[in-house]
Amino acid sequence: MTKLSVNINKIATLRNARGGNVPDVQKAAVDCETFGAEGITVHPRPDERHIRYSDVLLLRPLITTEFNIEGNPIKEFMDLVLKVKPHQVTLVPDAHDAITSNAGWDTTKSFSFLTEIVEELRSKGIRSSIFIGTDLRDIENAAKIGADRIELYTEPYASQYTKDREAAIKPFLEATNIARNNGLGVNAGHDLSLDNLAFFHETIPWIEEVSIGHALISDALYLGLKKAIQSYKSCLK
Ligand code: PXP
Repeated sequence: MTKLSVNINKIATLRNARGGNVPDVQKAAVDCETFGAEGITVHPRPDERHIRYSDVLLLRPLITTEFNIEGNPIKEFMDLVLKVKPHQVTLVPDAHDAITSNAGWDTTKSFSFLTEIVEELRSKGIRSSIFIGTDLRDIENAAKIGADRIELYTEPYASQYTKDREAAIKPFLEATNIARNNGLGVNAGHDLSLDNLAFFHETIPWIEEVSIGHALISDALYLGLKKAIQSYKSCLK
């Protein structure tokens, strides 16, 4: 079964636009779970333009499903996750000024850095996942680094989907098989939507978890949050 983890950063972005507490990020997280989300993802960035570090601390005791914190493992981020101890930390190499994550790790260049980080997370009982593309070397390195999982960066799949979905999915299917043969669990995320998720899941049903934010929260404007989550879960059946 592929779990749906809802990335609630966009809810914080909307709240931050006015400076008050509307919409309420904590309530939204609890509601997402009530409506069927099997996990909550947050991506705190150093400038706190979406989720704030303080949100992460407040969310921790409220989450009853799986809490996934993603981000670049700079010192402030590591201090936060080691304190909060979520179920999973997804390591993302995003630059401070990136609008959103736009690439996975170069695991050859960052091999020893990631090995240390993964070890530190493991020593605190936190599952690690490394955000990467479909390159064979990156996958094999992720296994050598000792990561528990990889999260495949699915933007290239999403952008090619309407043109040729078979071609779009092929590298992801291959990457997932290689990852599994190397003992890695596989998550996926970025630009997954109601248009492209069902085919992704039909073709690679053994993905452990998808983390979805932008499209799901946007769909919720039209469908409502409950219906939006149910629709995404239908794609994963
Ligand atoms: N996975 C990672 C590592 C991300 O950085 C993001 C965006 O914050 C997502 C998944 C979710 O992407 P989207 O918002 O396009 O669903």
